[in-house]
Amino acid sequence: MDLEFEADKNENKDEAQEKDNKPKSSKKKNKRKKATNGVDDEKITVNEPIESDKKASEIRQEPYSLPGGFQWDTLTLDDPLVLKELYTLLNENYVEDDDSMFRFDYPPQFLKWSVALQPPGWRKEWHCGVRVTKSGRLVGFISAIPATLNIYKSSQKMVEINFLCVHKKLRLKRVAPVLIREITRRVNQTGIFQAVYTAGVVLPKPIGTCRSVPVKEINPPSWRLFHKASLAIGLCFLVCECSWSSMIQSMYFVAFFQYLSRFDLVPLFSEEEFRHWFLPQAGIVDTFVVEKNGELTDMVSFYTLPSTVMHHPVHRTLKAAYSFYNVSVGTQWVDLMGDALISAKNAGFDVFNALDLMENKEFLEPLKFGIGDGNLQYYLYNWRCPSIAPNKIGLVLQ
Ligand SMILES: CC(C)(COP(=O)(O)OP(=O)(O)OC[C@H]1O[C@@H](n2cnc3c(N)ncnc32)[C@H](O)[C@@H]1OP(=O)(O)O)[C@@H](O)C(=O)NCCC(=O)NCCS
Repeated sequence: MDLEFEADKNENKDEAQEKDNKPKSSKKKNKRKKATNGVDDEKITVNEPIESDKKASEIRQEPYSLPGGFQWDTLTLDDPLVLKELYTLLNENYVEDDDSMFRFDYPPQFLKWSVALQPPGWRKEWHCGVRVTKSGRLVGFISAIPATLNIYKSSQKMVEINFLCVHKKLRLKRVAPVLIREITRRVNQTGIFQAVYTAGVVLPKPIGTCRSVPVKEINPPSWRLFHKASLAIGLCFLVCECSWSSMIQSMYFVAFFQYLSRFDLVPLFSEEEFRHWFLPQAGIVDTFVVEKNGELTDMVSFYTLPSTVMHHPVHRTLKAAYSFYNVSVGTQWVDLMGDALISAKNAGFDVFNALDLMENKEFLEPLKFGIGDGNLQYYLYNWRCPSIAPNKIGLVLQ
C-alpha cells in the first residue's frame, strides 16, 4: 500500500492563505495567544475565550487541502460497513501504552454510543475521515460531539474532540494538524469556537493533568483485590430502563448536579444527555445507584473498553472497566467503589481503571489501585483559565 503523504506543502499553503486573509489586528491577538497558552507561563487569573468568536464571513468555506491521492470523507457511521472501517482503523492504529503491550479496542457499539449513535446534538459532518482516493481505504479520522461545560462556574458551549487517529504508515507527515484544522473549521461553521480534549502527550498547554491507572500485567493486582473484597453495602442496584424515569430524575436533578458543582471543570448534561450517557447498555456502560430511605444518595458508573493484548502467546484481549461518573453523598467512597469492583468482577472484567480526578483519591489508595505511570492531559481550545488540579476536574472523556 502506498501511503505517501506530503502534507507540509499544503499545510504551508493553507496557512499562508489564511495569514493573507487575517485582519491586521490578529497579529497582536496571536502574540497574546502564545503567551497565554503557557509559552511564557504567565499566571492566568481570567476565565474567558482567548479569541472572540468569528463572524461567519471570517470562517473558511472550503476544506483544508489534502495532497493528491487523498480525500476527505464525512463518514456515515449509521452504515455498519463504514462503522466497521472506523473500527478497523482504530483497532489497528489507535492509542497504545508506552510499552506497546496494549492498544484500545473500542467495539463498534461503543463507537456508536460515544461518537456515532449519537449523543444528543451530534452532527454527521463532525465525523471527519481521510481516505486514499484510489483504494478508498480509511487512513485518518477525527470527531467532535457537542457539550456544555462549566469552567469555574462559567457555562460554555463547546465540542469534545476525540478519536484523532492517523494510520501508522502515515505518521509524522503532519496529517494530524490538517485533521485538527479541518474539524476546527467544521465546528466553527456551526458557531462554536471552544473545544475540550485529552491527550497522553504534553502540548501547549494543559489546563490539568490526571494520573491514569493503566494495566501493565495480564495478572494485575486488581484481580486479587476482586477476590478479597466482600459486598459492603449491598444496596447498589443496576439501573434499568423500567426503573429509569423516577429514579434517575431524582438523581439527575438533585444529587448529580449538586455534587458536580464542587468541581471546576464539569459537563452540564441535559436530561437527554444524562440518559444517553448513563442508561446502562450491555457491554458499553453500567450505572448503579444506592437508595436509602426512598432517596437516591449515590451513583457509580463505568464504561467497558477492552484492549488488544499485542504480543502475548495466550491472551488476546483485556476486558477493562473504566470509572466514569460517581457520586458519593450517603455512602463512603471505599464501600461504594468496593461494591463497584465486585459488580465489575462478577460481570467478567479483568481490571478496573480510574483516573485520580474528582474525589477518586478517596478510594484509589485504600482499595489498593496500582498507581499508573501515564498522565492524561486536559486541554481547552481557545479558552484561558487558571490551571485546574486533578481533584477539581469533574469531566471524564471516553
Ligand atoms: C496522534 C497522531 C494522530 C499524531 O499523528 P502523527 O503522524 O504522529 O503526527 P503529525 O506528524 O501528523 O503531526 C505532529 C503534530 O501533531 C501534534 N500532535 C500529536 N499528537 C497530538 C494530539 N493527541 N493532539 C493534538 N495534537 C497532537 C504534535 O504536537 C505535532 O504538532 P507540532 O509540530 O505543532 O508540535 C498519531 O500519532 C496517532 O494516530 N496516534 C495513535 C492515536 C492517538 O494517540 N491519538 C490521540 C489521542 S489523544
